[in-house]
Amino acid sequence: MSLPDSFIVHEHDVLVIGAGGAGLRAAIEASAAGVKVGVICKSLLGKAHTVMAEGGMAAAMGNVDDRDGWEVHFADTMRGGQYLNNPVMAEHHAKEAPERVRELEAWGAVFDRTKDGRILQRNFGGHRYPRLAHVGDRTGLELIRTLQDHGIHQGMEVFMEMTVVSLLKSGGRVNGALGYDRERGRMHVWKAKAVVLATGGIGKAFRITSNSWEGTGDGHALAYHAGAELMDMEFVQFHPTGMVWPPSVRGLLVTEGVRGEGGVLRNSEGRRFMFDDVPDAYKNQVAKDEEEGWRYVCGDKNANRPPELLTRDHVARCINREIKAGRGSPHGGVFLDIAWIKEKLPNAGAHIQRKLPSMYHQFKQLAGVDITTERMEVGPTTHYVMGGVLVNGDTQESSVPGLFAAGEVAAGLHGANRLGGNSLSDLIVFGKLAGEHAAKYAKANRAVEIDAAEVAAKTAALEEPFARRAGENPYAIQSQLQDSMQDLVGIVRTHDEMERAIGIIEDLKKRAKNVAVSGHREYNPGWHTAIDLGCLLTVSESIARSAIDRKESRGAQFRDDFPKKDDACSTFNLVCRKAADGSMEVSRRPLPPMRDELKAVIEKMK
Ligand code: FUM
Repeated sequence: MSLPDSFIVHEHDVLVIGAGGAGLRAAIEASAAGVKVGVICKSLLGKAHTVMAEGGMAAAMGNVDDRDGWEVHFADTMRGGQYLNNPVMAEHHAKEAPERVRELEAWGAVFDRTKDGRILQRNFGGHRYPRLAHVGDRTGLELIRTLQDHGIHQGMEVFMEMTVVSLLKSGGRVNGALGYDRERGRMHVWKAKAVVLATGGIGKAFRITSNSWEGTGDGHALAYHAGAELMDMEFVQFHPTGMVWPPSVRGLLVTEGVRGEGGVLRNSEGRRFMFDDVPDAYKNQVAKDEEEGWRYVCGDKNANRPPELLTRDHVARCINREIKAGRGSPHGGVFLDIAWIKEKLPNAGAHIQRKLPSMYHQFKQLAGVDITTERMEVGPTTHYVMGGVLVNGDTQESSVPGLFAAGEVAAGLHGANRLGGNSLSDLIVFGKLAGEHAAKYAKANRAVEIDAAEVAAKTAALEEPFARRAGENPYAIQSQLQDSMQDLVGIVRTHDEMERAIGIIEDLKKRAKNVAVSGHREYNPGWHTAIDLGCLLTVSESIARSAIDRKESRGAQFRDDFPKKDDACSTFNLVCRKAADGSMEVSRRPLPPMRDELKAVIEKMK
């Protein structure tokens, strides 16, 4: 059986699904290796969640504080991830990030500079020294612009506004992907020797998120249904500061760079509540008072960091606690204040506008707030998932031969909690590795024919919603799922609530099989939503099931019924895989071993 003529067929050595930082970096590397590369974007090229990492990319360049180095960055990343990270990945990341940043500069990225002309680095939560190379508060945007400019000259073929609905396999190996273009609904088949997933995150599984509509966990779901494992899915990062007002922009990111530049958090009583609760692991690294915190922001090497620069999991929980205790702001957040630095700096207004131009405009235009003179209202927003496809830490290959993953869709680097700024560096370090190894794989393996019957069956299933006269509304199911995840599997979790969430997800899965969509495949957002639903349900189930199985609080997972970290849970990652009967199986995977040399680094840094 051959594919009908109505299918548009493409052929590449390496197919990259996703065109954020990891996807573009992978595509550049694979193209440079001389193989034919295709890149699929769900949206327009350049519109990626990468731009929502605003404050910078972490790389131990030591430009601002020469005590920094890969060992400190490695130890900070492992401690931030509560030691569930894959040490091999954390080592690659810490050692290679500086070179990847300099490479971006050589490709045209215009970083902020130190007085003596080096790349400037700023403070961020959980990083011992100023480490984030940045471009004001538009670092992700500059990263994407640079990779895009550089990448399009490498000969890669770019497909915009396409959704991939399934990976194709033959003989256990990936050999392509099936998808459609979102405008006309035409079906596409991409034949490929190797596939790199770089689809980003899952934020749209929750009601309040910094992610835009594309963040529906597509790559996570594609990999899972193709037989790969998803690891660490219980760890969802709630960024402490998203906008809470007005409602239309609730969840929009307020960069941690605001706190890096001296912004402080206050409750309705005006108290800096972050001083109230400092975790033991950081006790000797937090300022004893406001004055010392400010000296740290100003670069005093003898000062300790302000408590607002503790890890995101902790800051988000403290904010949540203040709101729940009735000490929140009028619209259900707390106050983030950068305007206070006018007490310290004569030119504070201009300084804030220069350091945080996007935040200044975002609040001015969307909320009518002038952050140089007024406080912002902020609250936690679903930002990032530490969990993703289980990959080999050296090659980024999953357990499915020929299938690679990089960036947010891959698990391992961040463990139980990601440090801010480690995501942009993750993208460029592991995007490069994935591209390199996917190209090697493509050179070493021949193309395998696509199974036309498999494609026909999958396409028919996609069209079923049009055939139903009456059925479920996809938007209603999506909305109920988002509410349930937000309310029952959010920042604070309990067994009973999560079991309720599982019950709801099971029910929504049944209802999703009966969605009805009117019209036809052209320009049909209802149909897109019906298709995205499958991915959202898969990732939500894996988050909830993993979170139930981890009976402790660690990193981004806080269990009200198990509020303490449990040493017995520090020896494994949780892994979800699709069982033969189609159900989701969660199992424990012993942590990967750590070389003695790396153990010694962690000890030394303590
Ligand atoms: O707050 C931020 O600028 C986000 C950075 C990140 O997620 O790495």
